[in-house]
Amino acid sequence: METIRFWLNDEYVETDESPGRLVLDFVRRERLTGTKEGCKEGDCGACTILIGHLEGGRVRYEPVTSCLVPLGEMHGKHVVTIEGLNFPKRLSLVQEAMVYRGGTQCGYCTPGFIVSMTWFLMAEDDEPTLDGFKRSISGNLCRCTGYNSINRAGEDIVRAMRDDGPYGSVWEADDRIAALVGEQLLPAYFAEMPDRLAALTQPAPNGADADFFVAGGTDLYVQRGEEIPHARISILNHHPQMRGIREEDGNLHLGALTTFTEFAEDPLVRALIPRMDDFVWLIASLHIRNRATLGGNIVNASPIGDMTALLLALGSTLVLEKDGARREVALKDFFLGYKTLDKQPGELVTEIVFPNGDPQTHVNFEKVSKRKALDIATVCSGARLEVKDGKIVSAYISMGGVAPIPLLLRRTAGFLAGRTIAPETVYAALTVAQSEVSPISDVRGSADYKRLLVNQLIIAHFKELFGDEVSFEQVHRQVHG
Ligand code: FES
Ligand code: FES
Repeated sequence: METIRFWLNDEYVETDESPGRLVLDFVRRERLTGTKEGCKEGDCGACTILIGHLEGGRVRYEPVTSCLVPLGEMHGKHVVTIEGLNFPKRLSLVQEAMVYRGGTQCGYCTPGFIVSMTWFLMAEDDEPTLDGFKRSISGNLCRCTGYNSINRAGEDIVRAMRDDGPYGSVWEADDRIAALVGEQLLPAYFAEMPDRLAALTQPAPNGADADFFVAGGTDLYVQRGEEIPHARISILNHHPQMRGIREEDGNLHLGALTTFTEFAEDPLVRALIPRMDDFVWLIASLHIRNRATLGGNIVNASPIGDMTALLLALGSTLVLEKDGARREVALKDFFLGYKTLDKQPGELVTEIVFPNGDPQTHVNFEKVSKRKALDIATVCSGARLEVKDGKIVSAYISMGGVAPIPLLLRRTAGFLAGRTIAPETVYAALTVAQSEVSPISDVRGSADYKRLLVNQLIIAHFKELFGDEVSFEQVHRQVHG
């Protein structure tokens, strides 16, 4: 077993512990008990830490839930817990704002909030806003419902960081971390981390014969978290060839380890899906998006996976590899039944490929869930329509949550191809779509409700993409004459 070497706050760590052990358990055993265990499922953010990795000579930090992160993946990284953000004899800007505004009550969630809020100082590309602040804490829950006071603390922080505030120069600085250290908003040791990480060797790929292949781990640890620390694991993130997004021959090629955040931020993806920023905030939480991978979401095979629904609608093909052999399978054919895949044991999904678009390509994503963020959909749906001169050249519409597998509505697509964008076309397509879905009643909604949502989401796609031609009222008028 390889020794794991990393920086934990201002301390260098070497450990031979199991790579599958959770970072949360490790740091708490190291007496860094500010990091709390709450749900241990990625839902509450009480265990939030920052993980920093070297990128272009700088350290890029991301907030993640340490209850779902394997220790072995920390090799070569900088792990920051709440203790690593402390100053010896005073409060930080963030801590002070939380104290002054009464943002902490029982205090259990507070360390997680402080870590996420400190990341907010590091991350904003533009002048900081309250909206950006709220997004930074979208993965943190407070059971004492102190959100108003936490938001007031956020207002103080945003005011201090804006152009006319005392730290207004920081957000414009080329090297943000250095600027935060210079203003004493981060402890001084942060300035040394690029050199410290550069001196560490990068981890070698491992574990072809592993019991568990861990990508983001955001679902695997929830399902099998008790077993993984005692098993042989392969940390897929140590395989750099499974990362990255590129365009080739009119297709976008995405490494299977592309995280939701990387996908949503990529310029090629954003050119194809201009509203990607809106869509991604409906999916998981900031902390989970920083870890969850596209390949993991697909292989997990949940019928309700949000990203899988979007990738289905984009017309994706998967590349699978094992022992040097390589094959391709269309994503729409990959799901054979509930959690049953066209995949051999040990075979890895290494790449996801879908056609890039042109001005005739229109992509939309819709999701209905009980909460706006960090929730499982009742029904989700993706749509990709190629349209020329008001006519649909080709259509892909996916539905999650209405069948045992993530579903591509093939007959609906066939019906739409060649037809004019118009309310009557959409209305007729609804009948075809209803013949393809088979929802069941469960905690997220009744079968009848989900059927209603299928209709509503198809209409919503057309309304969002072709609002001049199609509205809800026009389609519903078809029913009532
Ligand atoms: Fe709740 Fe980790 S303990 S997100
Ligand atoms: Fe008690 Fe947030 S202050 S959970």
